[in-house]
Amino acid sequence: MALTQTDRALVLALWKKMSTNVGIYTTEALERTFVAFPSTKTYFAHLDLSPGSSQVKAHGQKVADALTLAAHHLDDLPDSLSALSDLHAHKLRVDPANFQFFSHCLLVTLARHYPGDFSPKMHASLDKFLGLVTSALVSKYR
Ligand code: HEM
Repeated sequence: MALTQTDRALVLALWKKMSTNVGIYTTEALERTFVAFPSTKTYFAHLDLSPGSSQVKAHGQKVADALTLAAHHLDDLPDSLSALSDLHAHKLRVDPANFQFFSHCLLVTLARHYPGDFSPKMHASLDKFLGLVTSALVSKYR
């Protein structure tokens, strides 16, 4: 589903508010994903996944940078995320269901940190944004 102007404005407003802290929230979302959906840990068996792990933090920052890039390329997500789609589909072979687990955990994380901003409209807009990012990332599976 395409993003409306309202969706775009809400996503960009939250991104602006998060400023340089996006990596903190993506890292927390990853840690939440590993606990709430333990099967996701199998993809990261080569990393130290213990709480507070610097490796998870470094990975969280990479995911944050990719999401920030996506938030600023809402009109050309598939092109912007093309290399990452190749990576997840062909090299890492991540089952697409896992993207929904992570997206869900990121929404929960953001809702906890920004309760005043997390209106139902913000929820819906972020959900659409993460759905489009997921579509772009899994586009190479077909
Ligand atoms: C690596 C982004 C979801 C598994 C990466 C990298 C980025 C990224 C930027 C680093 C690429 C590089 O170093 O060149 C994202 C985004 C996601 C997402 C934006 C969703 C919004 C997932 C999910 C899984 C996953 C759901 C599996 C449960 C991995 C693995 C690596 C990786 C295993 C390699 C980690 C390493 O060896 O350092 N991802 N990812 N990703 N991703 Fe994702």
